[in-house]
Amino acid sequence: MCGIVGYIGNKQAGPILLEGLSKLEYRGYDSAGIAVRDGENEAEVVKSLGRLANLEEKTDSGKAIPGNCGIGHTRWATHGAPSQSNAHPHVSGNCTGSGSGKVESLVVGVHNGIIENYQELKAKMERHGYAFYSQTDTEVLIKLVDYYYKKYKVGPIDALAKTIVRVRGSYALAVMFKDYPGKIFVARKDSPMIIGKNDDEVFLASDVPAILNHTRQVYYIGNLEMAELSAGEVTFYNLDGDTVQKKLTTIEWDAEAAEKGGYEHFMMKEIHEQPKVAMDTLNKYVKEVDGKNVIDLSEAGLNADVLKSISQIYIAACGSAWHVGVQAQYVIEELADIPVRVELASEFRYRKNSLDKDALLVVISQSGETADTLAALRMAKEKGIKTLAIVNVVGSSIAREADYCMYTLAGPEISVATTKAYTCQLLCTYLLAVELGKARNVVDVYDYYIDEILELPKKIESTLENNERIQWFASKYASAQDIFFIGRGIDYAICLEGSLKLKEISYIHSEAYAAGELKHGTISLIEEGTLVIGSLTQSDLYEKTLSNMMECKSRGAYLFGLTSAGKYDVEDSVNFAVYVPKTDEHFSGVLGIIPLQLLSYYISLSKGLDVDKPRNLAKSVTVE
Ligand code: G6P
Repeated sequence: MCGIVGYIGNKQAGPILLEGLSKLEYRGYDSAGIAVRDGENEAEVVKSLGRLANLEEKTDSGKAIPGNCGIGHTRWATHGAPSQSNAHPHVSGNCTGSGSGKVESLVVGVHNGIIENYQELKAKMERHGYAFYSQTDTEVLIKLVDYYYKKYKVGPIDALAKTIVRVRGSYALAVMFKDYPGKIFVARKDSPMIIGKNDDEVFLASDVPAILNHTRQVYYIGNLEMAELSAGEVTFYNLDGDTVQKKLTTIEWDAEAAEKGGYEHFMMKEIHEQPKVAMDTLNKYVKEVDGKNVIDLSEAGLNADVLKSISQIYIAACGSAWHVGVQAQYVIEELADIPVRVELASEFRYRKNSLDKDALLVVISQSGETADTLAALRMAKEKGIKTLAIVNVVGSSIAREADYCMYTLAGPEISVATTKAYTCQLLCTYLLAVELGKARNVVDVYDYYIDEILELPKKIESTLENNERIQWFASKYASAQDIFFIGRGIDYAICLEGSLKLKEISYIHSEAYAAGELKHGTISLIEEGTLVIGSLTQSDLYEKTLSNMMECKSRGAYLFGLTSAGKYDVEDSVNFAVYVPKTDEHFSGVLGIIPLQLLSYYISLSKGLDVDKPRNLAKSVTVE
């Protein structure tokens, strides 16, 4: 969702801001803007609707606007339609246009998040003579800062503190004050923001890729904290206005990891990175002790005593991370013999029922910033339940707030449709399942499971070699209207993710169904030629799902069967068969998804769609 950048230093700010925004495009946006100050001069605001290329054109890639201090924003509309006047930056001055140009203003700012009580605040500001040119909650926020700044006359940090106390919601806010040239002031609650620094410069961003070309030294600003930024200097404050000391952290990701590296799209690059990042993630948690491989979750803070004390597992996540949870539910219940309940974080967070106090809540998130997942985590913590996060982004809110944290080593994931982070998350749940089973004394083939898991990266690699057939199939089905995915158990979880991948980037309607449910409604949608993809990697459920597929075939469906090599020969029954390497069936999900990722990619490509930045979607959903 919305991306924020900021720069203060000895270089021209415009080009740096635009370059930073281009690295945040993947987050999803519909308009963009920058505000740059040249010394003591008024800030110049330029905004445009649509792609960043429009803003680049208007500003000659940022070069047309002089000044060394500025802020920028890509907006994903929440309050108010995508339009130039609703685009950020917003200004405190009363103006009639879209708030662009050199608008006489005390405060100019950008914001990511949602101000929940903005209507009430807007009415208050109107009573105080403020006039609004946009429908956004952000303009209200900027005018509120202006109001407190003028009312109390004790400086920007104090004005921000007064504002924070008054607003409800989430924000990563960056503002420039007319009276403070060469400075940016920021405040944060529940929306991501990092501050990068080197000797003479300071960078501000919602996410790491935006600043990687300039520095790897970053500060994480905490919730309800503020900071004053000037060239090469950052001072943090708490709500009382007292200074807060912070240490710089080094980002290990290198700049290249966030580039396309010869691939046409990030998604394809990330699909092909899976064997490597899977191995990196496994190497973090599997150690050799006395010549034997053992799972060691101590880096996550977990040990056998903690694992033994757990009597119930809850899993909460959103999107693909929730699909990881659905699959983990089957794997953990079978391997560790412990009840698992998986829920969408947006539902779990509002659950009124009492939760088992000896439970462990596992939250799964690539970004570590998803608003609902973070809220589910906080809710569980408030109830005294232990929490484990499986997270990709180091230092993210979820990673910092959970009691235990398993990092996935997927590296920066830029494509909106997740692939490599999903795979690494799944692997973490496999390790957790085996280790929980061991701690609970229910696993008698511990070494075998670890060996099977360690073989997975190589098997992912060989699955990726199936490329051409899938590509051919994708071109044949690119014009499909509806596609159905069916499976049972772990195969059902594979279907959920396969179906989501497809709709996200190909805009083809698709549904994933537990195969046994088909006859309770969906089968009425099957017509001559409808594509039905059946996942068939689980022996005990194979025949049952195959029968369900045959029921579809009798009604005209075209069948795509996905199964394990050397185990079944589905070719006699289906129209198109795809095999993944054989593995212990608990772990087949990590292989089964690969052909479906490729299928979605190639369908999107055949349709000429924007694979990495699908319409209306955001990479990181930081609002409810
Ligand atoms: C968005 C992304 C999905 C992701 C979901 C959860 O919808 O497009 O790919 O699965 O958010 O995000 P998280 O960062 O918590 O994994």
